[in-house]
Parts: sequence; C-alpha cells; structure tokens
Amino acid sequence: NWKISDFAYEQVEKIREIVGNKKVIAGLSGGVDSTVAAVLTARAIGANLTGIFVNHGLMRKDEECEVPEVMKTLGINLRVVDASDTFFRKLHGVTDPERKRKIIGETFIEVFEGEASDIDADFLLQGTIYSDVIESAASSRTSDKIKSHHNVGGLPENMKLKLLEPLRELFKDEVRALGKTLGISSKFIDRQPFPGPGLGVRILGEVDAEKARILKEVDDIFLKTLEEYGEKGKIWQAFAVLLPVKSVGVKGDRRAYGYVVALRAVHSAEGMTASWYEIPHAVLREISSRITSRVPEVGRVTYDITDKPPATIEWE
Ligand code: XMP
Repeated sequence: NWKISDFAYEQVEKIREIVGNKKVIAGLSGGVDSTVAAVLTARAIGANLTGIFVNHGLMRKDEECEVPEVMKTLGINLRVVDASDTFFRKLHGVTDPERKRKIIGETFIEVFEGEASDIDADFLLQGTIYSDVIESAASSRTSDKIKSHHNVGGLPENMKLKLLEPLRELFKDEVRALGKTLGISSKFIDRQPFPGPGLGVRILGEVDAEKARILKEVDDIFLKTLEEYGEKGKIWQAFAVLLPVKSVGVKGDRRAYGYVVALRAVHSAEGMTASWYEIPHAVLREISSRITSRVPEVGRVTYDITDKPPATIEWE
C-alpha cells in the first residue's frame, strides 16, 4: 500500500539525483502546489533552490508578508521582490480583462527573469500536478499549436531551463497530504483557491493602488466575519469584487457617492461548476454593516446569487 511519506522519501532521492549540484529556481506566490513542490525540493537540495516571490500588489490583505514568512519558516531560500509599482504602472488605463491578465502574466515573468538572471540555474521548478498534465494534453488535442501548462501564464522560453515537476503524478488531495507530511500547516494548505492575477480581475475595469487598498479591506472584513461565524470552512471560495460604478447614498444630511462592492461565495467541484452559497441573512447583515462602517469609500454592498454556469466564479 502506497504511502505519501514513501513518496516524499523517493522524490527527495530522485530530485537529488536529477539536480546534483546544480541550481533550481522557482516562482513562488503562495499557491499550494508550488509551495509543496518547493518544500520537497528544499528538503532535497537545500539552498540550491532559490524561490522568488513577486509581490504584484494584488494579493489578499497582508499576504505579501504572511506568505514569505511561512515559506522561510519551511526552510525555503527565498527572494522577495516588491514590484507592485511596476504592475500598477503597466495596468494604468487598461480595462479589458484579458489584457489585464496578459499584462500581469508578462510583467510577472519580466520581474522573475530580472531577479533570476544572476542565479546560474539549470532547472525551473513547477508545481504541475496530474490534473494540469491532463488539461494541457486535452488543450493540445483541441488546438493547432501544442500548449504546455504554465502556472505563471507562460514560461520564459529564452531561459533554457529544464523543468523540474516533482508533483506530476499527484492528485490535489495527495498534494495536500504531502504538504502536511512535510510540515506545512493545515491553515496554509487548506486555503481557498486564489487566481494568479489576484485582485487584478476582482477590481473591474481599471486597476489602481487605491482601489486595491479598498478591496483588500473589504475582502478581509468579509472573510474574517465568515470565519468568526463558522461559515468560512463550509465555503469553497469566497471573495469581494469592486465594481467600476459609484452609487448614491446618504452621509449625515448629504448625498454621498460611494463604491459598490459585490460579495461572492460558492460551493464548487474544483471550479468547473459552482452554486452560490446561502450565507445566513444575519451574517450577511453583519458583514454589510462592518464593511460600510469601516471602509468609508464603499456606499453599497451586494451579494451575487448566480451559479456557474451561466456565470463564472470570478467576475472578469
Ligand atoms: P472561473 O471564474 O473561470 O474560475 O469560474 C474558476 C476558478 O479558477 C480561478 N481563476 C483563475 N486562476 N488565473 C488563475 O490562476 C486566472 O486567470 C483565473 N481566473 C479564474 C477562480 O478563482 C476559480 O477558483
């Protein structure tokens, strides 16, 4: 009978054999798969693995500090780059969702390459898991050009790095089990999925630092209140979206125009389909009142009651 601890042991040996004394780099932004792959690789080759954490300024509140902290505790040799100004500059004036995704992906690679250029690496570590392998096989059947799977939206092709993908044979639940075997906390492992472009696709329309600040606050209040009322663990994914409209309200005896936010919470089978989650009304009421009292820029809170299909989980 197959044990995850045996897998860990075998992979550590295998990584040592493949990599030898050469260097490995990895883009780490806190995703479960890439983190587990990195911890496993660090067990095998220690500081010959360099993880690069690119802060695009569009993570959940405080994650740009918390995630690197966790990784360093797990023995990963990590470089942290705050590139948020670069991302906001490149996103200035851009409203098309696919363009925003493309810019974020490309900027990520640019920053990553810049940071990795002085590391004489031979390998690029990727947290590819079995479902990614299947998906890219499926997409290569349906499109003319063969697509490979890229976690960060496109591999730096001129880097001539060999891929190291120690999780290729594992299902998601096995990756989580492996992560726990390697000493990563369940709190980290069981975090909800978060899109690579982060809040960039949850700030509808043009993205800027001020909107990111507002959305981080709203999202944080939403998630913490769900947690406090024992709802968060029952939800597959929950988040807030900042809409590009302002709506009228009253502040004292004056009319005030404030942002509209939408809250979304769904049950899902791995993101393919989803049904909106019925948060108890009293909890919704509390969330709404906390948001409007603590985030003065927000004047109206709405709740998304659309399944996937026809909607997607994200709004962009
Ligand atoms: P949708 O919105 O397509 O989302 O129903 C399904 C799942 O995928 C996540 N998602 C993304 N993840 N890059 C990512 O890494 C993206 O561009 C992206 N778009 C959506 C979404 O959060 C949900 O879990």
